[in-house]
Amino acid sequence: MKLIREWIRNIEKYKAGKRKEDVAKKYKLKKVIKLASNENPLGAPPSVLKFLKEDIGNIHLYPDQESKELREAIARYVGMKKENITVTNGSDEALELFVKLFLDKGEKAIVPIPTFPIYETLIKIFNGRVVNIQLREDKNFEFEANKISEKIDERTKLVFICSPNNPTGNIIEEDDLIKILNKEVAVVLDEVYAEFSGISYVKLVNEYENLVVARSFSKTFGLAGLRLGYAIACEEVTDYLHRIKLPFNVSSIAQKAGVLALKDRDHLKRTVNLVKSQREFLFNELSGVEDIKVYPSRANFLLIKLNRNADEVVEELMRRGIIVRNMSNLKGLHGNYIRVSIGLEEENKEFLKNFIEIIKK
Ligand SMILES: Cc1ncc(COP(=O)(O)O)c(C=O)c1O
Repeated sequence: MKLIREWIRNIEKYKAGKRKEDVAKKYKLKKVIKLASNENPLGAPPSVLKFLKEDIGNIHLYPDQESKELREAIARYVGMKKENITVTNGSDEALELFVKLFLDKGEKAIVPIPTFPIYETLIKIFNGRVVNIQLREDKNFEFEANKISEKIDERTKLVFICSPNNPTGNIIEEDDLIKILNKEVAVVLDEVYAEFSGISYVKLVNEYENLVVARSFSKTFGLAGLRLGYAIACEEVTDYLHRIKLPFNVSSIAQKAGVLALKDRDHLKRTVNLVKSQREFLFNELSGVEDIKVYPSRANFLLIKLNRNADEVVEELMRRGIIVRNMSNLKGLHGNYIRVSIGLEEENKEFLKNFIEIIKK
């Protein structure tokens, strides 16, 4: 249709991980294990489930437009002030708000690849220019600050850094991040997997007003279905984020769930411990398998390179009731790759057994 804006026309739809229900139906399976979207293997915190079952409160009334209670709770959790926090509909919305705030038509945004494809989609929606930097596989995809800095010119407004990076699992080192922050650009730091790495650079927001951080309740807190995330930025940027966000972007249910989830430190600890120990187990087991390469990861997933067709491996795993993500078509990856999320011990063992059987065939 002619009315559609010209630059929107080539944008592709995001391909999410397959849903358990759909795979169960398609392959006539009773049980399906989903290791495709980096969700929390322990599920949501019990206190949130109880609240959802027993007392979701006054949903006929509008939610708090400014999510004050949740922002206070988040501020305590990350060691910042409420004035640094914006609550969003998933971290996806925080990323969108950053692009909306900083990027003008035709301006450049740097995206090191391979990474989370939504950055590129957002840049295109706002008619910006994507400047990719290929992360080197032979260096375990490390962020090379000099290479990134060299690409920054007067037309560059944004640099996206995902740490730990999805799907490669590596983090950016602090001095590399600071090198980029010292340039005249806004740096979007995506820390949705930070809890699994134990490393966060949120505190740098106090020193660098050009740093904006996206965080999420979808991963460590097990609330992916509720859609809850947040932005951390200096007070001035936060004030603008509150001006441009839609007034009731986060439901009262999600706000309350977030407050409860942050109180349940036990669930958080159990999640992080489980992911770390199972990540080590799976990494060690996979490292001993011939003909594949597994990359070290600080997140809740592992990237695996195959020397055979990934479509076939993913399809066969799915037929056996295990969903993983085919990463072969992701920009910046050249070859056959899958990404597997860290699940419960029995789920990881089930994946391992079936995966090895399939690739040895
Ligand atoms: C790197 C990264 N950023 C952001 C998101 C979006 O997460 P959400 O909108 O659920 O917070 C994801 C989801 O998988 C992700 O992998």
